[in-house]
Amino acid sequence: MDANSQPIKLTHKPKIFNNLESFIEGWYWVIPSNNLEIGEVKSITILGRSLVIYRGQDKQVVICDAYCPHMGAHLGEGTVEDNELRCALHHWKFNDVGICVEIPCLEKPLPLKLKTWPTTEKYGIIWIWTGETPQQPLPFVPELEFLEYESFLGSQLVMNIHPHIMMLNVIDTQYFQGVQALDIGFEKQELNPNAIIFSKYRRQNQDLPIKKIYRPLCKNPIYSVCYWYGSTFTLTVGIELRRCYLMLAVRPIEKEQVEIQTIFFIKKRKGVYGWLFNRFMLWLSNSVMQELINNEIKILQTMQFNLKTPIQEDQSVMQLINHVERQKPLTWKTWLLARSPENDIKENQTKWREEFTND
Ligand code: FES
Repeated sequence: MDANSQPIKLTHKPKIFNNLESFIEGWYWVIPSNNLEIGEVKSITILGRSLVIYRGQDKQVVICDAYCPHMGAHLGEGTVEDNELRCALHHWKFNDVGICVEIPCLEKPLPLKLKTWPTTEKYGIIWIWTGETPQQPLPFVPELEFLEYESFLGSQLVMNIHPHIMMLNVIDTQYFQGVQALDIGFEKQELNPNAIIFSKYRRQNQDLPIKKIYRPLCKNPIYSVCYWYGSTFTLTVGIELRRCYLMLAVRPIEKEQVEIQTIFFIKKRKGVYGWLFNRFMLWLSNSVMQELINNEIKILQTMQFNLKTPIQEDQSVMQLINHVERQKPLTWKTWLLARSPENDIKENQTKWREEFTND
């Protein structure tokens, strides 16, 4: 029996990966930028927490907690004045960093602060950081980091699946081998503590003679996946002549339910024909991707993930679990730390190893 195919005994279950009670501290998509006009205020719920979002006259977006620190009125009923938000009930006013700047019945405002959250806009999307200060950048496509590109918002989808599970297919070696009959593997590289890249490679050259004829035309093939904050992921696939770049911005909306915003990227092309070509390619990519997602996700949605018998071929899945286990878990709705980082996360790090030990 091949040693690689022997079962591996796991002595420890993941605590953060596929956990319904928590999510990873990080950047999450909120709404498309063009869904929020200047002077508009909206109520939103992100990762179980009630929030209010508004856009001031300076065009900047502010996201704050939903309930007024005076008596708890919902600030989604309030009004935007310049770059500040006035509560509808007793008209207290808060500036864009949440400081109370006016209490109509008092001469001076009280030293009071409404909780605001780091926010930014990119790719036509408003994003929120779910902690005090952003520790890492917004998700980006690593292969486009130093290139000029255009982005285009695709479809929004809702799926009954945990975000960690919906990401597995694209790096599952056995899935690829079964479907495509290729001897492939994935090489991992940690971009930062919250982002990990898996690049597909061929273990040996199995080219059929016919493939050797057209292979020179297919220079520098790439298949690379980058996971951010255990939710959003990017996919780069194609050859040098034609590459597709995709981001699936993923946000849990209920326990075991996610809302996905697809974002497509394409290198900038000059002239009218370049513009038209890019629009056509983006439209085509969106149609194909929606079909693919709908088909691929069916199996995963009905799955009860439990990696009881991992083998060598599951290494990339194990590496992803290991990466997620090292991140900072926050509790649904409160956004408080799910557990002590000193004790529990360190414990996870030592128990979850990427090296396999056979029975
Ligand atoms: S509840 Fe908001 S000002 Fe009183």
